[in-house]
Amino acid sequence: MRAPATDLPLMLEDVSLLARAVTILDRVRLTFSAGAPTMLVGPNGSGKSSLMRVAMGLVPPTSGRVTYGGRTGVPPTRRAIVFQRPVMLRRSASANLVYALAAAGVPRNERSAATQELLDRVGLGGLSERPARRMSGGEQQRLAIARALAKQPEILFLDEPTASLDPAATKATEDIIRTIAAQGIKIVMATHDLGEARRLGGEIVLMNKGRVVEVADTQTFFTTPATDAARRFVAGELLV
Ligand SMILES: Nc1ncnc2c1ncn2[C@@H]1O[C@H](COP(=O)(O)OP(=O)(O)O)[C@@H](O)[C@H]1O
Ligand SMILES: [Mg+2]
Repeated sequence: MRAPATDLPLMLEDVSLLARAVTILDRVRLTFSAGAPTMLVGPNGSGKSSLMRVAMGLVPPTSGRVTYGGRTGVPPTRRAIVFQRPVMLRRSASANLVYALAAAGVPRNERSAATQELLDRVGLGGLSERPARRMSGGEQQRLAIARALAKQPEILFLDEPTASLDPAATKATEDIIRTIAAQGIKIVMATHDLGEARRLGGEIVLMNKGRVVEVADTQTFFTTPATDAARRFVAGELLV
């Protein structure tokens, strides 16, 4: 029997992205492999969100290519993205998930059980009838993660999911991300919070001005960074 096709490793091969002659991504070479989360860090505007959009396949690179398990042009059925400000339907939490499950091709008679399972996975089991847009920021983030999981992705991109959350909501979200990662889903996550990168990261990718400046396992990145930029970033200096 043929092995099922996989999106991993996901490779960015000399990917550049230009918009109106401005370089947003500059010859990025990066491989996302199965395993512990990859944390994208770097100043605002360094290209973290753009990199995830290109890797997801939402935006074609201006040059270079993205390969999924060695193939190009692979539709995004095995990968999902949670944007920084997820937009929910003006309906209940469960209705949002039923919609996502339908879009993912889950048969109608399985959607109700799958919805409850997804809500439980993100700690929202008791809030299934709550209007999604009336949920707190943290709850909406977790609902957005549940919605992404409806696709049963093997790779999940998260764009600063805790950016506007208080410490308790941040912890709840990080715990869910850790659990998802332990279930074998590859997490690629942008954060501007170095503490968070250290807590969740298996590996750290530092970006600056559209370039990948350093890639290292978390321990190495924080204890013995190889580049001057990484040293300064870890020390809390501004990269300009
Ligand atoms: N569609 C676009 N058109 C023009 N510039 C863009 C576009 N998207 C992003 N940029 C620019 O690209 C740079 C990188 O943005 P972004 O990927 O959002 O960085 P980050 O997520 O690290 O803050 C920024 O300077 C931003 O203004
Ligand atoms: Mg961003």
